[in-house]
Amino acid sequence: MHAMRTLLIFALLVLPAFAQPSPSAHLALTPPMGWNSWNKFACNVSDELVRGMADAVVQSGMKDAGYRYVVIDDCWQVRRDENGNIVADSQRFPNGIKALADYIHTLGLKFGIYSDAGSKTCEGRPGSLGHEYQDALQYASWEVDYLKYDWCNASTQDARASYALMRDALDATGRPIVLSICEWGKHQPWLWGREVGGNLWRATGDIQDRWGEKKEWKPGDCCSYGVTAIIDELADLYSYAGPGHWNDPDMLEVGNGGMTDTEYRSHFSFWALLAAPLIAGNDLRNMRPEIHDILTNKEVIAINQDPLGRQGQRVRKDSDREVWSKQLVDGSRAVILFNRGEAEQNIVATWEDIGYPGKVVASVRDLWQHKDLGKQSGKFGAAVPPHGVVMLTVQP
Ligand code: GLA
Repeated sequence: MHAMRTLLIFALLVLPAFAQPSPSAHLALTPPMGWNSWNKFACNVSDELVRGMADAVVQSGMKDAGYRYVVIDDCWQVRRDENGNIVADSQRFPNGIKALADYIHTLGLKFGIYSDAGSKTCEGRPGSLGHEYQDALQYASWEVDYLKYDWCNASTQDARASYALMRDALDATGRPIVLSICEWGKHQPWLWGREVGGNLWRATGDIQDRWGEKKEWKPGDCCSYGVTAIIDELADLYSYAGPGHWNDPDMLEVGNGGMTDTEYRSHFSFWALLAAPLIAGNDLRNMRPEIHDILTNKEVIAINQDPLGRQGQRVRKDSDREVWSKQLVDGSRAVILFNRGEAEQNIVATWEDIGYPGKVVASVRDLWQHKDLGKQSGKFGAAVPPHGVVMLTVQP
C-alpha cells in the first residue's frame, strides 16, 4: 500500500518535471510580424539605426498594427574572443547588444538577431558551427526573442540536424526564442521544419525588390526572386503551414523603391493571404503615406493573423487572371483577384471556386477600399489593374 502511494506520488509530482513542455512550444501561433535590417541596409547596421527603427515602429503606428520583432540581420558580429564568445562590432554597437535589446524591450517590442549554421555567415562573419550552445546562452543572456539562422558555408552539414541542434540549444536556455530557418528551401524544410522546432522556414532564395522572375545572381549562382516568382514557389506548400510553423517567402520589399505602389499592394496582399511572416524591410523613419498605408492596413493584416492559420491557395487560373482563397476561422474566406497581365481585366471568383455552394448569398467587403460591396449571389467580379489585386472577404 505504502509502495503504491510512493509510486503514485512519484508519477504525479516527479515525472511531469521531466516532461516540461519546451519553452518554445507556444511561439508564433500567428505569423511573426516585425522589421529586419537586411533588405534595405545590408551590412550597414548600427545601434543608432536599430534604435531609430524601433522608435519608428512605435511612432508610425506599426506597433499598433501588430509589428513586434525588431531583427538585426548579418554583420553585427565581428569575431570570437579567446573563450569563443561571439563579439559584436564595438564601433557600430558601442553600448553592446544587451543595452540595445533592453531599449527595444522598453518600447514593448521584441528583439531578434542573426547567425548561421555554418562556419561563417553569408557576409563572412563568424557562424555558430561548434558554438551552438555557447551562442544560445549568449543570446538568452542578452534577452533575444528571435533568431534568424542562415545556411551559408554549411559545407556537408545535414540541414535538419543543424537546425534541430540550434533549437535544442535555444530551448536549453529556458528562454522562448523564435527560430527562423533560412536555408532557402534547399533541403525542403517544409517537410521537417516543424518537427525540429522551426517556427518559419524560407522556401526560396532571396527576394529582390522587383515584380517578377527568378534570376541568377551571377552565372551558375542561383537565384534571386521577384515577387511573382516567390508566389509561384509558395503556391504548392499550403499544407505545411499552420500555427507555430510557417512557410517564409522572405521579408517584405514594400517601400524600397523597385516596384509601383500597385505592385507593393499586391506583394503585401499575397504575403497576408499566404500566412507569411510580415517582416518589413524598408526604412520606417521616412515612409511615404502610400507605403505607410500598405504596411498598416489592419484589414489585410487581420487576414494574415487569422488564428486558424491556414495558408491561402490558388483556386483558379485562366491565363494571367487568377483567384486565390484563404479559409478564415469564422468560416468566411479572404479572396484575391489577381491580374498578372499588362492591361486592366475583369476577374470573377465564383463561390464554388472558394468552397461554397453556388446558391449561397454572401457579404463581400473590399479590404483596400475599406468598403462593403453588399450581398452577392454565387460570384463576384471586379476590374483589376495590371499587376494589381482586388482583395476581399466573402462571408456567407
Ligand atoms: C542570406 C539570407 C538573407 C540575408 C543574407 C545576409 O542571403 O538569405 O536573407 O540574411 O544572407 O548575409
